[in-house]
Amino acid sequence: MNNRVEINQAGATPSSLDRYAATPENHTLVPRLAKFEFDSSIPRFWQGEVFATRMFDAMQLAFPDGERMFIHSVRNYADKVTDPILKEQVKQFIFQEAQHGLAHTQFTETLTKQGLKVNGVVKLIKKGMLFFQDKAPHKYQLASTVAAEHLTASLGEFMLSSSEDNLLTNADPKMKAFYMWHGIEEVEHKAVAFDVYEQVAGGGYFTRSLALSLMYPMAIVPLMVGTMAMMHADGELNLKEMRKGFTAMFGKNGIWRKTFPSVMSFYSPTFHPWKTGYPNGFHEWKKVYEETDGDMDAAMEAAELVVAG
Ligand SMILES: [Fe+2]
Ligand SMILES: [Fe+2]
Repeated sequence: MNNRVEINQAGATPSSLDRYAATPENHTLVPRLAKFEFDSSIPRFWQGEVFATRMFDAMQLAFPDGERMFIHSVRNYADKVTDPILKEQVKQFIFQEAQHGLAHTQFTETLTKQGLKVNGVVKLIKKGMLFFQDKAPHKYQLASTVAAEHLTASLGEFMLSSSEDNLLTNADPKMKAFYMWHGIEEVEHKAVAFDVYEQVAGGGYFTRSLALSLMYPMAIVPLMVGTMAMMHADGELNLKEMRKGFTAMFGKNGIWRKTFPSVMSFYSPTFHPWKTGYPNGFHEWKKVYEETDGDMDAAMEAAELVVAG
């Protein structure tokens, strides 16, 4: 069982943290109901840019079934969890991922209403996930969840901490609140699958490294294809939009480039998700969410204020 140590000063760097970092003491996972209405007020290109919008839209198609796979892989070991704190975290992890799945399924319907033929892709993703759940060894399934959770937490931390122009800067406020909620919860539960993997499943370094090495390229290639297919359906697949998009992805301040060091930190044998602590704005978001009885817009504004400094 891990020693639970206080490591979580905002802005702390991994090198200044305990080598064997663990979930901070008094860290809580909060069950929140997804209350989003994706009505007609949401612009088709809600990011203000075609490529960025469709990149997020393509990515989110995989979320519901991906998140059901995460739940499944953790549940395989749930009965063996004896640490009462981790047991409670597993329960909340399942609740949070289930809510993410519901909300993203709801948003997929919005894409269908826009005339995008995404149902075939969603069915294909579901088939792939069910096949994986059926055939892959339980430990490898969990290692894949650990790797995926690292990617989502890295993205969430980048989204929350970056005061530079990032992909959500010009987003429609409702969509921004939606992704910020998901990002916050990804950070909040970032170590649950990892702790189950290490402490309960007896998972090791090699398997989790292999899982990320296979997943990372496998996630980026279909994501780019999906993004371009959607842009084609919009009648917006052209050089100008592609150039803008690739700069936003892989350019100096691009999201993939900026999150790359964090993604690579997974290959350290002493990696633990809490080595990066909390991103800026995290505590403010939680505090205001609680004080306002679940007002995600107010929580988002509070977090943004901190990041803007
Ligand atoms: Fe999630
Ligand atoms: Fe997650």
